Order: sequence, then C-alpha cells, then structure tokens
Amino acid sequence: MILAIESSCDESALALFDPAKGVVRELISSQAASHEKYGGVVPELASRMHLTALPLLLEGFRGDLPLVTRIAVTRGPGLLPCLSMGVTMARALAMSLKCPLVGVNHLRAHVHSSFIPLHAQSAPDFSAAKKALLPHLGMIVSGGNTLLVRLDENLKITVVSRTVDDAAGEAFDKGARLLGLPYPGGALIEKLAQTGDKSLFTFPRGIPEKADLRMSFSGLKTALRYQLEKMSDEQVAAALPHLCASYQDAILAQLLAKTHAALGQGAYRSIGLSGGVGNNRSLRERLQRLAQQHKLPLLIAEPKHCGDNASMIAFAAWTEIGLPEGDAAAPAPQLTVEVV
Ligand code: KG4
Repeated sequence: MILAIESSCDESALALFDPAKGVVRELISSQAASHEKYGGVVPELASRMHLTALPLLLEGFRGDLPLVTRIAVTRGPGLLPCLSMGVTMARALAMSLKCPLVGVNHLRAHVHSSFIPLHAQSAPDFSAAKKALLPHLGMIVSGGNTLLVRLDENLKITVVSRTVDDAAGEAFDKGARLLGLPYPGGALIEKLAQTGDKSLFTFPRGIPEKADLRMSFSGLKTALRYQLEKMSDEQVAAALPHLCASYQDAILAQLLAKTHAALGQGAYRSIGLSGGVGNNRSLRERLQRLAQQHKLPLLIAEPKHCGDNASMIAFAAWTEIGLPEGDAAAPAPQLTVEVV
C-alpha cells in the first residue's frame, strides 16, 4: 500500500493506493479561496497552510498506517516552500513507519493519472490492458504547464509539444482577470461561455504553421485586453458570455490543432487528458471527437484527479517503480529514497 503526499502548489492532499484494488482513500484540502483575493497563489501563505493542513489530513489515515509499505511524495516541479512541507512530512513518516520513500515528478504523475480509471476497471490485468494503449499521446493542461507528451512502454516520457509562454490554465486565469472575474477563472469562463456565441469575437490561435508543434497563449490575453479597451463597461457586461465563448474557443482550438498535428507525426495507440483544464467539458468533448476521427481511445483523468491530487502521486510511484500488482507483501521495510 502506498501512502502519497502532494503539496506542490495550493492543494494539500493525501491518498492511499492499493495496487490490487486502486485508490482506497483520498483527502484533499484546497486553499484556492485563501489566494483568491491576491489574484494568484502566494507561496509563503500556501506553505503555512500546508503546515496546518497536512497533519490534519493524516489523521484521516491513522487506521491505515500499519498497512502502509511505501511513502510517495511530490518532489517537484512546484513552489519550493510548499514542496518542502510535503517532503518533510514524507521523510518523517517513512522514518517512523520504516518504509522506503519515493520522490515523484508531478508532471509525470499527471501523465499517468489518465490511466487510473483503466487500473480500477482492469486490475489485475492492468499491465496487459495498458500495453495495448502504448505509445500514448498525453495532453497535460494545468495552471502552470501545457504539454503534449509521448509515453512509451519503457516508461520513457518525451515532450512533443509545449507552450513557449503562458500555460492554457494561465491564459484562462489571466483572461478572467481582465474580464473582472475571480481567480482561478477557468471554470467560470467555461460556465459563462455556455450561453455565449463563440463567433462574435476573433482571438489569435497561436502558431499557425501545422508542422510547428509549439503552442503560444500570451498573444491571446493581449488581444483580449485590446478588445476590452475598445468597449465600455456596459458593453463588456452585455457581451460577457460571448467574450468568454470566443476566448475559450481560441484556447481550445489551439490545443486541438496541435494535438491533431502531433497525432499525424507519430504512431499512437491512445490519447490522454489530465491537468486542471482537463475539467473543461468543451475540451473533453472536442478531444473525444478528435480521438474518434483518429480511431483512438481517449483516456481522461477523473475530474477529481485532473487538478493537483495525491492519488496520481501514489499511482505514479507504483507505476514507475514497477511494483507487481497485488503487492500486499512488500519486501522487508528499509529506509531508502527512490527518485522517479
Ligand atoms: O492542475 P491545476 O490544479 O494546476 C495548477 O495548480 O497549476 O489546474 C488549475 C488550472 C487553473 O488555471 C484553472 O483556471 C484551470 O485549471 N481550470 C479550468 C477549469 N477548471 C480548472 N480551465 C478551464 N475550464 C475549467 N472547467
């Protein structure tokens, strides 16, 4: 059983993963409301909140601790003062439970998170089911990162496309700020876009060349600023759903266009979607249509595993150290640090 800790940004989370059954228990404490008034995450505040939240969350796992055979923790990328809170608690837990400690790369964990539902459906035959889906093209879209990656059978992850400036989530959040909406703005832009007409405003769609897989979102927010400067407050208020629909469409169109181009450049057997922006229903639907067009299965991380969470950290630790399924009788406990 792997107990994992996530504290890379503004979510404190713990999860217990049983390789034979899947995620057994998961608890999360989000700080989003505390950072809202600053318009973004304040690292000092975030690390102090992790210090309070993590031990409280651990209380919820008290009865599970004798079953834990390995501790996993996000080692980066993320905000250093926040990461250090999780890593410090993980080290203390590993020492007191006499378990090995695994440091997990947060972005690799996002890639693997699309496979958690498949594991829940197919364990103990997960490895064979997964093998049939590799190589896999994963889209990771969060507040800080936007990447298309190739996952191969040997667990090699290669970046095939990335943004050269803002992340897709950042584009949503910065756009929301210009529109006078609270942070984080992605979900609210999506909600307002539902009643808007996406053809009423035209926003740039990044790098147009099909062969160039790089993405760019910073021009989009500048275009929105220029558009808003031409409008009165009343006009902006009246056109808010249309502005949101057009702005969201520009972000999604670029993500879809680069995914389509990447699929044309490699032989993939599945597509994945993870990261906070993966909660966007229009993105899910449009990616589903693209997957059908390419006759590929689409693996989407569950909504609760799209944003930062500890289940994906536990699952990635298990995937990357190559523990057998049903590893209930783990090897003799010893204090080692494995970095994946
Ligand atoms: O993965 P995550 O928690 O990333 C970081 O902490 O970096 O994702 C947060 C990001 C934010 O930018 C937020 O605006 C965006 O995901 N987001 C959405 C939606 N839900 C969250 N963006 C678009 N549509 C959504 N429904």
